[in-house]
Amino acid sequence: MLEHGGRPRAAALRYGCEPAQWLDLSTGLNPQPWLPSPADAVAAAVALHVLPDDDDELRAAAQRYYGADVLAVAGSQAAIQQLPRLRRRSRVAVLAPSYAEHAYQWRRAGHEVTAIGAAQGAAAAAHCEVLVVGNPNNPDGACFDADTLLGWHATLAARDGWLIVDEAFIDGERQRSLVAEASRREGLIVLRSLGKFFGLAGARVGFVGASGGLRDRLAEALGPWPIAGPSRVIAVAALADRGWQSSARLRLHEQSHKLAALLAMHGWEPRGGCALFQWLATPQAARLHDALARRAVLTRLFKSDDGTPASLRFGLPPPDSWTRLGIALRDASRELRGGLAA
Ligand SMILES: Cc1ncc(COP(=O)(O)O)c(C=O)c1O
Repeated sequence: MLEHGGRPRAAALRYGCEPAQWLDLSTGLNPQPWLPSPADAVAAAVALHVLPDDDDELRAAAQRYYGADVLAVAGSQAAIQQLPRLRRRSRVAVLAPSYAEHAYQWRRAGHEVTAIGAAQGAAAAAHCEVLVVGNPNNPDGACFDADTLLGWHATLAARDGWLIVDEAFIDGERQRSLVAEASRREGLIVLRSLGKFFGLAGARVGFVGASGGLRDRLAEALGPWPIAGPSRVIAVAALADRGWQSSARLRLHEQSHKLAALLAMHGWEPRGGCALFQWLATPQAARLHDALARRAVLTRLFKSDDGTPASLRFGLPPPDSWTRLGIALRDASRELRGGLAA
């Protein structure tokens, strides 16, 4: 299995500190997540004792939030694993760097996978049967406008191909989303997640926008009760909470700019990012990761791979941890530049 961020226990073992002491910035999850009301928590507890009802309010709540019929899945990861099994052997282009599970799962299912840069999207759409991009992309925050993506989709769809757009990190700027287009365009598949913006990664809820036929095939492949009852209850309440969503959007943009400014102040100008993380590409990535980890600040390190630069992704810290992050960055930067570590 591939390695992912968000494993503070493993990091704690390696760096010899208590898991609870970590400032964990390795995931890009909202540090001020959506919280259930006491009534939601009771309803979730009640749901533990009955089989999940696939005809409950989740479909309607998701329809209202995404503006189209979508298929609920156990995290977008469930769809990432299953989609490659719904196609005959294909040539698949995957944007790099990106969420590594895409290339991994397509390869595992026997497809021919090529890593491409953002500038090669049009050529890949013309040459391959499947193109996978993140928007905004994880980890570099690269964004593609709707016309570009729909152009690539048209080229692919003319040959029965697929464009898969992973929008796990788009909720901070959701006007850019293509999810509502996906139900009307054969071969356009959009992945959404409740893990990042809502901070509900543990609930394991995601959604797939696609044509009705493809949603049915995917649902069939995933089997009955794909989502646990308590997660369904929590998802319905979070998707309906428009007040929380608009203030979270404002807050995340503010904090992400603040994080970019803090990194730049210490000489680490981010190369990209989105509302939920900042991305730093530097040959010093591994050393900075290590220097911060020794100060109990966990970031996500991407080693130089497939021609992509070594890089670090910083998630947003919780409100009470900015000073701690500032001090760790100051000391780690001094150490790397050969000065005194405080
Ligand atoms: C870009 C991207 N897509 C999808 C996923 C899968 O998330 P989930 O299964 O929680 O929806 C992740 C997880 O980190 C991710 O980074």
